[in-house]
Amino acid sequence: MQDLKVITPEELKGLDEPRITPSQNQSEFSKKIYLESYGCQMNFADSEVVTSILMEQGYSTTSNIQDADTILLNTCAIRENAEQKIRNRLQSFKPLKAKNPHITVGILGCMAERLKTKLLEEEKIVDLIAGPDAYRDLPRLLEEIEDGNKAVNVFLSREETYGNIEPVRLHTNGVNALVSIMRGCNNMCSFCVVPYTRGRERSRDLNSILKECDNLYKEGYREVTLLGQNVDSYYWVNHENQQSVNFAQLLEKVAQSNPDLRIRFSTSHPKDITDEVLHTMAAYDNICKNIHLPAQSGNNRILELMNRTYTREWYLDRIKAIRHILGESCGISHDLIAGFCSETEEEHQDTLSLMEEVKYDFGYMFAYSERPGTPAEKKLKDDVPDEVKKRRLQEIIDLQRIHSGYRNQFMVGTIQRVLVEGDSKKSSEHHYGRTDNNKVVVFPKLNMELKGKFVDVKITHCTTGTLLGELIN
Ligand code: SAH
Ligand code: SF4
Ligand code: F3S
Repeated sequence: MQDLKVITPEELKGLDEPRITPSQNQSEFSKKIYLESYGCQMNFADSEVVTSILMEQGYSTTSNIQDADTILLNTCAIRENAEQKIRNRLQSFKPLKAKNPHITVGILGCMAERLKTKLLEEEKIVDLIAGPDAYRDLPRLLEEIEDGNKAVNVFLSREETYGNIEPVRLHTNGVNALVSIMRGCNNMCSFCVVPYTRGRERSRDLNSILKECDNLYKEGYREVTLLGQNVDSYYWVNHENQQSVNFAQLLEKVAQSNPDLRIRFSTSHPKDITDEVLHTMAAYDNICKNIHLPAQSGNNRILELMNRTYTREWYLDRIKAIRHILGESCGISHDLIAGFCSETEEEHQDTLSLMEEVKYDFGYMFAYSERPGTPAEKKLKDDVPDEVKKRRLQEIIDLQRIHSGYRNQFMVGTIQRVLVEGDSKKSSEHHYGRTDNNKVVVFPKLNMELKGKFVDVKITHCTTGTLLGELIN
């Protein structure tokens, strides 16, 4: 094996770099919005909805902050450092605002929802606050600012899914797209702000999801990722015929309606992932055999304190079901938290031993960060010292690297169906794509444009993060 690169958790999650909305619909007269997005895929999907709403009202977007009339940051509040990054970013806008006092600065997303008007008090540069369910109101909020006011909407809805809004695809390679299928979360894991920042769980109309997937396929997209904080609790009732649709049925409908569209989904909650979902995955070639199944901890006392509502044994039973129904090659990834309140050394060892039992392909790993207002902050003590959290996190990261290498080794010598997404970042002489089980594959080009095509690649080498191969058809 070569190239054992140490990847930080933030890098792994792609959270270290904001995504900047590219220039769209440039016209000399329209007001220009500059939008930066942070956080999870749901936030990136939301930025596509925001752009659609604003462009509908005649705004254009720019990727050059110097040209902007309005700067919007779509923010994340999941850990303290995510919020700190936004506060630092706001500081960096000061010279711009000094030069052009008419420039508007707006905060969207989870940090806006968590801090509400407090953010206006704390960060004087901010003019606008809009929570994740308030994006239809953005044009009005922007008008309010033109009259010299500050504007706030942090109302959380029980119904809003933005189902009828056609997202403007941003940051896209034209091959994969994000499709939001639900919003909010009802789970109340004790460490987590999401239920407070995104509100109650609600599922999007099945027909609007199918329509969006159809349109994407027609536009040339070949892969969709169905998104929700907890996709397995998708539940939509058709009020015309009173029929309900669960996640397994939704997956089946999407798979049947576009057999050449690859389907991924994220995130699954271990308490909800059913055998019905696993059998549906097995039944359709176009549903990728890859499951993101956050564990958070391998110890039952900690899982209970986290209010995850499953035990280590339950979690391992779900892994067994995945292996039984989908086989050893199904990709499995995790989220794990190091140093949650009162976690002992033995309990941390339980997390490592869970990892040893599962041997995950991939993982997103974090040190516990106390979030104001969450049950853990109110009832438990954040008493694991920072150095201990860091050391435990490093042990988890090191073990994951070994397991990623272990899993990748099994792919060497096999032939994999790869969807080509573009050129390798490191070399324009190589294609870049992903396997069904979500592994990155790089292989030499052979004078053909293959972007958006499915090809068979023989895997010849691997690193812990990448498979290397050769085209065989
Ligand atoms: N809905 C998904 C996770 C959403 S948040 C699920 O339930 O699995 C993404 C990940 O961030 C979580 O899985 C968790 O590992 C991590 N996370 C959430 N809150 C955190 C906190 N306060 N400190 C550290 N990590 C946290
Ligand atoms: Fe947060 Fe838990 Fe909901 Fe995931 S399931 S978003 S961790 S409360
Ligand atoms: Fe962050 Fe909100 Fe997503 S807190 S992780 S952007 S749901």
